[in-house]
Amino acid sequence: MKDLMPASESEYTDADFQRVRQIAREQAGIHLPTTKKALVYSRVSRRVRERGQGSFHAYLDFVTSSAGEGEMQNLIFALTTNVTSFFREKNHFDHLESVVIPHLAPQVRAGRRGRVWSAACSTGQEPWSIAMSVMTAFPDAVSHDFRILATDINANVVAQATEGAYNAEEVEAIPAGRKSQFMEPSDDGDYRFAGPIRRLPAFRVLNLNASWPIQGFFSAIFCRNVVIYFDDATRERLWQRLADKLEPGGFLYVGHSERVSCASACGLIQVAPTIYRKDH
Ligand SMILES: C[S@@+](CC[C@H](N)C(=O)[O-])C[C@H]1O[C@@H](n2cnc3c(N)ncnc32)[C@H](O)[C@@H]1O
Repeated sequence: MKDLMPASESEYTDADFQRVRQIAREQAGIHLPTTKKALVYSRVSRRVRERGQGSFHAYLDFVTSSAGEGEMQNLIFALTTNVTSFFREKNHFDHLESVVIPHLAPQVRAGRRGRVWSAACSTGQEPWSIAMSVMTAFPDAVSHDFRILATDINANVVAQATEGAYNAEEVEAIPAGRKSQFMEPSDDGDYRFAGPIRRLPAFRVLNLNASWPIQGFFSAIFCRNVVIYFDDATRERLWQRLADKLEPGGFLYVGHSERVSCASACGLIQVAPTIYRKDH
């Protein structure tokens, strides 16, 4: 019976928290300050219970053993926050639609590649919003070499993003005209992206703090509301790597509470509070 008992808070020691911290840093570059100790308890205790482990200690022993590789993924997923919404921080989509795509579309029609990256896409609202903006400004994009790469470390959210189905409440943030143009309702009351727009995004699992098997350069990168989980050094390394993946004149969008500390050293020019352009 003991194995089925939930782990109690008294069994969650500071040493357990330090182990989780180390795992988060090593596996995902995620920094967990001590202020997150209670949050970590509530997130991880669910995994401890689900695995039927009697204590945090036993759970962490399992996760770090060779048999626990699959569960290690679940632990990382439990430590990440996936909050997102359609057209979140809308000025980025307005900029993409009115500045970036109108400039890029004639060149892509003439034969060059066009790429946009949603670099921590969560359940997909960000890349699907990008796709709607692209289809609005460049309706024939799917007939040319134009694609949106959408990546996240969490395979579960990437699967949901790929499905592209959302409930009625989630799609409220999509203007009615776009919803009817790009989505179809299903019998269970959900809405699903349908038609040519489905050919624009490609979804992949990718850890931003590991190597990137990505060819070529991007005209725009959305990296929003993810670096808040990283420490300063990890953040700066990421900004530099993202800047290196932008083509000259390409744009980087960051979350409204974020800023690129190393902008000029990274070859970026700030053109608006959370919008940066790669120097030529
Ligand atoms: C709060 S969501 C942000 C989603 C979207 N970019 C937005 O602004 O609405 C943060 C996402 O970052 C992902 N994430 C956390 N650490 C990551 C890492 N090391 N590599 C890639 N994605 C990561 C999480 O899985 C989560 O889906």
